[in-house]
Amino acid sequence: MTDLAQAKQEIARLRAIINHHNYRYYVLDSPEISDAEYDSLMQELKQWETEYPQLVTPDSPTQRVGAAPVAAFGVVVHPLPLLSLGNVFSEEELLSWYNRISRLLGQPQFDLVGEHKIDGLAVALTYVDRQLTTGATRGDGSRGENITSNLRTIRSIPLSVPPEAPPRFEVRGEVFMPKAGFNQLNRERAEEGLPLFANPRNAAAGSVRQLDSRITAKRPLDIYIYMLGYAEGRPTPTTHWETLVYLKQLGFKINPNNRLLTNLEQVKQFCNQWQEKRDGLPYEADGIAIKVDSLAQQQRLGNIRHEPRWAIAYKFPAIQAFTKLKDIGINVGRTGTLNPYAILEPVVVGGVVIKHAALHNEADIRRKDIRIGDTVIVQRAGEVIPEIVGPVVSKRTGKEREFTMPSRCPVCGGKITRAEGEAMHYCSNAACPAQIRERLRHFVSRPGMDIRGIGEKLSATLLKEGLVKDAADLYYLKKEQLSPIDRMGDKSASNIISAINNSRKQSLARLIFALGIRHIGEETADILSREFHCLDILANASVEELTSIRGIGTEIASSLVAFFKLDENRRIIRKLKDAGVNPKEEAVPVKELPLAGQEFVITGRLETLGRHEAEARIKALGGTAKGDVTRKTAYLVVGTEPGSKLAKAKTLGIKQLTEEEFLTRLRMR
Ligand code: IVH
Repeated sequence: MTDLAQAKQEIARLRAIINHHNYRYYVLDSPEISDAEYDSLMQELKQWETEYPQLVTPDSPTQRVGAAPVAAFGVVVHPLPLLSLGNVFSEEELLSWYNRISRLLGQPQFDLVGEHKIDGLAVALTYVDRQLTTGATRGDGSRGENITSNLRTIRSIPLSVPPEAPPRFEVRGEVFMPKAGFNQLNRERAEEGLPLFANPRNAAAGSVRQLDSRITAKRPLDIYIYMLGYAEGRPTPTTHWETLVYLKQLGFKINPNNRLLTNLEQVKQFCNQWQEKRDGLPYEADGIAIKVDSLAQQQRLGNIRHEPRWAIAYKFPAIQAFTKLKDIGINVGRTGTLNPYAILEPVVVGGVVIKHAALHNEADIRRKDIRIGDTVIVQRAGEVIPEIVGPVVSKRTGKEREFTMPSRCPVCGGKITRAEGEAMHYCSNAACPAQIRERLRHFVSRPGMDIRGIGEKLSATLLKEGLVKDAADLYYLKKEQLSPIDRMGDKSASNIISAINNSRKQSLARLIFALGIRHIGEETADILSREFHCLDILANASVEELTSIRGIGTEIASSLVAFFKLDENRRIIRKLKDAGVNPKEEAVPVKELPLAGQEFVITGRLETLGRHEAEARIKALGGTAKGDVTRKTAYLVVGTEPGSKLAKAKTLGIKQLTEEEFLTRLRMR
């Protein structure tokens, strides 16, 4: 075969592989390989194409930014294409980028701006006459998806801007999911047996591309605006830095870590400093975006295909590494869930030794086809729990073993069950020592009864020494029982006793949450406490009564009923009550509520709330919601395409509220 023929073959092979992974990543939000592997495939293709430029075709993955948008959303044509950044992977590459720019500008020194390159997804927001009119994904750079209603649910995106804003303009930014929110979301999904998101980027992309924006609204999404796309009708600043300051004044969320940098030394320092501190950031950043500050200079430098010459991404080293999966262990959670975890050949990932990684559930292990003995890709980023991205199938020797859940609990030998359609396996023995320990830890945790001083170790000791058998026993502990415990001493013992005593005053919502009932998170506990006012009434509620409450489905209702039916749980609640732990949620008299005596009428469509939901919220805050405007109407809420009520309100001189103003009154802004 000639060299050219071989190159042709190799290029075709790489393009097919990359196209497949592009589809997985951009269209399905479900990658099968790590970013590092993808980068190296792309790098390989680019090398071939540099060597054989005659083989470059417009449909090569190197020639476009992303994949086509899915059909379900409307298409938005970007008036100005959304570019992507070229990458540099070392200080030398950074230096050669800088020198090239410097040569083109004919200046040894020029201002730049350094920003975190956040790992989320790029969006363009268009504002016309002060209102957010369109929010779109990048798509392939020229055409994106219309996800306006989803983006409107992100609190940090302003729905309207002040009068001094240009009459028509577009800003661009990165929507992302903070690490804490991502971990929480995956924990909840694991419990509910839903597929997990591989990383915060996929979680953000998946959330923003929901066809039902109510789902998006529940996801912990955030945004940083990183540039002005275009602006019409008003002069705007002439440098990137001043533009960011200007956008901040217009109410946009701008990353406070951005810096104006005046020379190469400062650029390098900015990159190195954040490479070291990236783990401590509340979001995942995969590099630094460096941009020439002067917009006139940006103009002069221009773009090469989809990438600007005036900006570059300095990529941080991968947070992934290869290692061997030695075995799979199992932790038993407080509700009896069996949580498998990976026992790894220790490996350094981004400067930290990793020995364990989360594996979530059996279905997830199967889906990723992870086998004991496999070489696996481990991924770690800051507070994100280390995870296994997937196996390296090509390294298999045939000696790998598939994992199956045991039929008996590894801690107590109890029977293992799995409900039809659920992903999690459970130890069915409520007296399992591991479950008891985890329940106790949950009870005293910060969002629970918040009893400081009782950590993992002390919980275990208290149970081992037989000082407590369940959470209620904590309230019967005496200082004299605690002080003799290893290195405890008198002072710590009295601190703990007073922390326990203080917790008697915690709210009913906290107590409900602290009981550790399956599927009952903080939000549900809050709803239940407001509905039932005390634990006794809740404990006797039927499934029908429970499901009639907004926000309580059959799964939660059955879980509650099952929990309160158990003698063991009833006994614990009685003991708590006897010890004086019996908080009551006092109903606030209606006349003290913030909207008391105010009558609201809504006309037109609201973007953030359904009509029913809006009315329920008005009532919950003590107001009334009516269908027609009368002299008694306090406010007319005006949505899009308002009806005849607007004219009537005008003649009667009734005050009108925009959706934004209405949300403020509902305490939702
Ligand atoms: S600037 C012309 N700044 O990285 C410059 N991008 O390939 C266009 N990103 O699509 C992008 N943080 O999704 C820029 N501070 C930042 C960024 C950032 C994250 C993403 C964005 C973009 C991709 C670049």
